[in-house]
Amino acid sequence: MKATEHRIALKHLGKINPESIDEYIAHGGYEALVKALDMEPVRVVEEISRSGLRGRGGSGFSAAQKSRSTGETTKWNVQRYIVCNGDESEPGTFKDRIIMENDPHLLIEGMVIGAYAIGASKGYIYIRGEYSKAISLIRKAIKDARNKGYLGKNIAGSEFSMEIEVKPGAGSYLSGDGFSMLETIEGKRGTPRVKPPLPMERGLFNKPTLINNVETLAHLQSIILNGGEWYASMGTATSKGTKIFTVTGDVKNPGFFEVTMGTPLRVLIEDLAGGMKEEKKFKGALLGGAAGTFIPEEYLDTPLCYDAMREKGFHLGAGAVIVYNDERNLADTVSSLLSFFRTNSCGKCVPCRVGTTQLKKMADKVKAEGADKDALLDEMLKQARMMAATSLCAVGQSPLLPLESAIKYFRKDF
Ligand SMILES: Cc1cc2nc3c(=O)[nH]c(=O)nc-3n(C[C@H](O)[C@H](O)[C@H](O)COP(=O)(O)O)c2cc1C
Ligand code: SF4
Repeated sequence: MKATEHRIALKHLGKINPESIDEYIAHGGYEALVKALDMEPVRVVEEISRSGLRGRGGSGFSAAQKSRSTGETTKWNVQRYIVCNGDESEPGTFKDRIIMENDPHLLIEGMVIGAYAIGASKGYIYIRGEYSKAISLIRKAIKDARNKGYLGKNIAGSEFSMEIEVKPGAGSYLSGDGFSMLETIEGKRGTPRVKPPLPMERGLFNKPTLINNVETLAHLQSIILNGGEWYASMGTATSKGTKIFTVTGDVKNPGFFEVTMGTPLRVLIEDLAGGMKEEKKFKGALLGGAAGTFIPEEYLDTPLCYDAMREKGFHLGAGAVIVYNDERNLADTVSSLLSFFRTNSCGKCVPCRVGTTQLKKMADKVKAEGADKDALLDEMLKQARMMAATSLCAVGQSPLLPLESAIKYFRKDF
C-alpha cells in the first residue's frame, strides 16, 4: 500500500486468508454486526446517514436515503429484500472482484447490517458469471457465517434472521442495471423496467428492495464499528470516506487504489499508478468507464469528488480510470465504445436500438476520406442527445458522455 492510499473497504487485503472466517473474526470481524443488532434499525440508518456514504456503483446516491426509502415505504411486517450488485460490468472496473476475492466476510457482514437496517430477511448477491473465484469464495463464506451464527435464524442470538443466496450473472452489461438484475434474479430476461416505481418501493418480486454495490456494503462494517462521524471526517464536503479507483491503460503501474475522496486525479495517475509508461506524454483519461467522460490534462488537479467532477462536466462513475498517451487516437476509442453500446443494446426501445447502430455508422463515416467531419460530428451529437432524452436506461443514455467530451477536448482526433 502506498502512503497516499487509505484503505477501508480494502483494509484486510493481504492481511487475512479470505477462506478463513476465524482470521476475519480475529481481525474484529462480525463485531460491527453484533453492535448493530444491539441498536434499533432506525439508529443504524442514522449512523449510515451521519457517515455521508454515497453509493459506489456509479450513481453516487445517498446510501442512507435509499435505506430509509426501502424501510419506510410500507409497514414493517412486509417482506423486503437486499440485493448486492456484484455484476461489475463497466469496462475498466474490477474493484468489486478485489473485495469479493479478498474479503468475502466484509461484504457479508455489511450486507447483514444493511438488511437489518431495513428489515430484509432475504438477500441476494448477484455476481458476474465470469468471477468464478469470487462466486465460490462468497458461497463458502456464507456457509461459514451460517455455521458461526452470523447468518440464518436468530443471528448472533438476536431476534433478527436472514439468509443470503448467490446468483451468478450471465455476463451481460445490461444486467448490472438494478432493474435488469432484479428481472434476472426473478428468472426473466435481464432488461430494464420502466420507472417509477423504484426498487425501494416495488423491486424484487414486487417487494421493497434495497440494491447496493459491493463496495458500498463493504464500508458499512467500519462505519458501524467506528461511527458515522469518523467516516465523515474523511473526504470532501459532499463526498465522504474513501473510494477504490482502478487505473489502467498507458501507466507504469496499473491497478486498484483506495484513496480518500477529494484526492486529485493527478495523484492517482502520477503517484499511485506510477505515471506514464515509457515516459510518453499524457493525453487524456476516460473517467467512469464506457458510460464515462474523457478528461484532458488541464483538469488533472480536480478532486475525485462526485460533485467537483460533475461541476466540470465529468463523472466519477464506479471509479474506472483508463489513461491514454499522446500517441493514441481518441476517435478510435470513441468508435470502439460506440460498438460496445451497439452490442449491448437490448433492443427494447427504439432510440437506443436504432441510435446505437446509427452512431457507430456515423463514427465510421467520420474516418472516411473527404468526409464533412464537422457536419457529421454535429449530427452525432444531436442523435446522442436525442437518445439520452428518450432511452429507457443508461445504455441508450450514455453514448453522449464519451462522445461529447471527446469532441469537446479532442476534436482534432476525429
Ligand atoms: C447499464 C448499467 C449497468 C450498471 N452496472 C452496474 C454494475 O456493474 N455494478 C453496480 O453496482 N451498479 C451498476 N449499475 C448501477 C445500478 O443500477 C445501481 O444504481 C447500483 O447497483 C446501486 O448501488 P449503489 O447505490 O450502492 O451504488 C449499472 C447501471 C446501468 C444502467
Ligand atoms: S436504452 Fe437500450 S439497453 Fe436500455 S432498455 Fe432501451 S434498448 Fe435496452
